[in-house]
Amino acid sequence: MTSALIDTSERLREVLNRLSSKSVEDYYNPYQMFEWPQALPERAWWMSPELTTTYDTEVARELSEEQLYRLSKYESLNFYSLNVHGIRELLIEVTRRIHTVEFATPSEFFHHFIGEENEHMWFFAQFCLRYGGKLYKQPRGGAETIPPSDAASLLVFARILIFEELVDHFNAKMALDDRLDVTIRKINQIHHQDESRHIAFGRELVRLLFDGFRERATPEELAQVADYLSRYLTYSFESLYNPQVYKDAGIPNPLEVRRRLLDDPRRAEFEAQVFRKTNSFLTRHGLVAVGAAGTGAVR
Ligand SMILES: [Fe+2]
Ligand SMILES: [Fe+2]
Repeated sequence: MTSALIDTSERLREVLNRLSSKSVEDYYNPYQMFEWPQALPERAWWMSPELTTTYDTEVARELSEEQLYRLSKYESLNFYSLNVHGIRELLIEVTRRIHTVEFATPSEFFHHFIGEENEHMWFFAQFCLRYGGKLYKQPRGGAETIPPSDAASLLVFARILIFEELVDHFNAKMALDDRLDVTIRKINQIHHQDESRHIAFGRELVRLLFDGFRERATPEELAQVADYLSRYLTYSFESLYNPQVYKDAGIPNPLEVRRRLLDDPRRAEFEAQVFRKTNSFLTRHGLVAVGAAGTGAVR
């Protein structure tokens, strides 16, 4: 049913043609793209300080500059690990749908998307393994139940969009931050460039899938979708606060530190910044009620 809207949307077709051509024009070899120095400077920011979970909090005021640098290293490794896990999940879902009747129209674009995401997963994993010797584990939760059943594709692509927009907030800022090492800036810049296409596509597709869903959904089903997305926003944001990161950075009582950071007044401001564009998209199209998106109310 939803494929009718996907197949007849002139606007989606134009977006797909434009983005697929752009993917071909911008094609690069990721395996030759980075220099990968032996080591990166330890006494330096690995992540823009404003993007770390401790920035402008009571916890940060208790830490030395040395500890904050160290923390930024592990927070960055957590951020790239979240990318690896998020990409694996979205690849599974997009691959499941490529060359199905419902997704025949975006199938060509899906080939670019899958190829690019595989490369992103490779360079993010390289970064973690080379400079951290590991990937952080995937956080639990986030997408256990998908209600109602015929909203499955809508929720999958909405989740992908939320994840890509969250990541892009960080990439866009770190790509331009000259306090960061050139390797770090480059990874963020390359990813930002590819993701601007994925996000443009995701917004079109989610809008169409939601329009199709809304035509036949009951008010309860619409409320379930809104609730699911709000919880997913909160889950995604809170996955930035990994207690193992605080432990690796040598900060005592990592679980308590996480709780204090999530309760700190700074959290709401940080969450609103990260999801500013996402919230405005979700509320503008009616997927989530105004003022409800990512409030941090559900933990
Ligand atoms: Fe990506
Ligand atoms: Fe992407």
